[in-house]
Amino acid sequence: MTAALDALVAAVESALRDASLSTDRQRAEAMRPAMAALLASDDPIPAEGSEALDGAAVGNLLYADPGGRFHVLAVVFPEGTSSGIHHHGCWGVIGYLQGGDEETRYAGEGPAAGTVELAEAARHVWHQGDITYLLPEEGEGWHRVRNPGPGTGVSVHILCMTPAAHPHFFWNRDTGQTAPFPFVEMSPGRWQARLD
Ligand SMILES: [Fe+2]
Repeated sequence: MTAALDALVAAVESALRDASLSTDRQRAEAMRPAMAALLASDDPIPAEGSEALDGAAVGNLLYADPGGRFHVLAVVFPEGTSSGIHHHGCWGVIGYLQGGDEETRYAGEGPAAGTVELAEAARHVWHQGDITYLLPEEGEGWHRVRNPGPGTGVSVHILCMTPAAHPHFFWNRDTGQTAPFPFVEMSPGRWQARLD
């Protein structure tokens, strides 16, 4: 842990405890200053958090809430890699630490429908210091991240629930079908989303 990461975890715990915050957006906004401070820090995350897994994208676990309410991942996209189009079923706060990940958001039904049509809704190239949210309660959830380069992209994700329980689905753009896309621990603390 770094001091910035400790402070981020404390801010998340405080936001989740604060009964005056009634929506995921309000809680995400409450977490934002600590994420901004971490992204601006000289020592944001442990160095190994920025390492790919055998050249592939990976989520390196930085913190897991003992109560299973949230976890923090350093998500690494080596140059030229992409997440595929996928859905997060509960809230997230994402801060961009390094590189220029391009995120595309899609609008459409949630994955429970089985077969869905998605339309591109927005596209952003994020840079160091940028912060964005995933708010399924506002109809968000489908997105794709790719790293066109140069260099490795690293972003810090605060995501609801535990890595193993985080509701995560893949969209097959050829068939329109959705499929479970759970996070699987490939080696200790190193998680990749996998189709069953
Ligand atoms: Fe994602």
